[in-house]
Amino acid sequence: MTIHHAMPAFDFTTHRNHLGDRSSKWGNVDKFLGKKAAPDTLAMWLAQMDFQPAPCLQNAMELLRAEGEYGYFTGLDKFFEQISWWYETRHGWSPDPAHMFVTHGIGNAIGITLQAMTEPDDGIIIFSPVYNEFQGKIQRNGRTVVSSKLLVDEAGVYRMDLAGLEAQLTGREKAVLFSTPHNPAGRVWEVEELGALADFCLRHDLLLISDEIHHDLVFPGAKHVPTAVAAPQILPNLIAMSAASKTFDIAGLRTGYVIIPDEKLRTRFGALHRALDIQANRAGLELTRAAYTTEGAAWVDGLMAVLDTNRKIFCGGVNAIPGMSAMPMQSTFLAWVDFDGIGMTSEEVRQRITSDARLVPSPGEIFGLGGETWCRFNIGAPTSVITEAVARLQAAFADLQ
Ligand SMILES: Cc1ncc(COP(=O)(O)O)c(C=O)c1O
Repeated sequence: MTIHHAMPAFDFTTHRNHLGDRSSKWGNVDKFLGKKAAPDTLAMWLAQMDFQPAPCLQNAMELLRAEGEYGYFTGLDKFFEQISWWYETRHGWSPDPAHMFVTHGIGNAIGITLQAMTEPDDGIIIFSPVYNEFQGKIQRNGRTVVSSKLLVDEAGVYRMDLAGLEAQLTGREKAVLFSTPHNPAGRVWEVEELGALADFCLRHDLLLISDEIHHDLVFPGAKHVPTAVAAPQILPNLIAMSAASKTFDIAGLRTGYVIIPDEKLRTRFGALHRALDIQANRAGLELTRAAYTTEGAAWVDGLMAVLDTNRKIFCGGVNAIPGMSAMPMQSTFLAWVDFDGIGMTSEEVRQRITSDARLVPSPGEIFGLGGETWCRFNIGAPTSVITEAVARLQAAFADLQ
């Protein structure tokens, strides 16, 4: 007899829309726009989604509340073991729990890494356009940003230009800060590309900081392979990091983790991590543990089906507007849209999007070199919201049809 396990019913249709309240994405819309937003404005900027939380998270929160124990706690070893389990079942890597550190999110992990592993003014390479905070974190830590512009290939996706980067090197570069999968373009790097980057880093004695925070959000047709698995030769120079925060929308709990297979690097990182007394936040730890389970995995599978529908509706709708084109999305809930061919100033494009369509994407220039004519739209919301956003965009540019 075959037993069919029904997919649990998750709520991906109720919009978690917090305009004006304590959610930064919704509450800061006016500040972000620099003007009062219309009441039906749709926030599509900050990288967090608008779905109802996964039931496994709500249950974990309820258990915490019921227990009423908010003092010092145990469980860090279990947290690391569960991270290892998640990697093994979802990504084909079994990192050693003894190689892990907890951090207050990935921004914190990047800051500690830069401070522990590099010196003031050292060059830190980024592949641009990229998650805007990479540049900010490098600068605020007194290091120098070295931007290597990504190239668009004939399939319309980004490729690293390692030959161009090689010619750009001055000898002051110490590390590569790398988004894999890539924010804002949703690029899932292929094993060969990761291998070439690893070889490049080894050739130039560069640390590879592999930010894998988007690793769970990959669409059919692409496969994310952790850098440690795709290019094991880089293990002596690798600092990998991730979190459950993008996948499960728990960025407010400020919990991430760092994995350092190499002992020397681990000792160096560990010394600063201890000196700064970086310790786990219990709620973040418990919710990450609750997320990294079979129940959490079923929720992610359900989420990806919805995001897949959204990307088809959104990218299809955008590509139907003459002069606009969305980069093929291989991962994430972030759509990267080019306005270069539209024949308007970026001011006019922005005006139509924010005032006529009442949508608030992230302007491409914040992502650095190469992002100037682009916008990033967050499509991590119920499909009805994305359908509405596409209809508004099409109406705002209807004169181009
Ligand atoms: C590539 C990347 N790294 C890090 C972060 C932020 O991580 P955290 O909120 O844990 O600092 C983001 C958020 O969008 C991201 O896209």
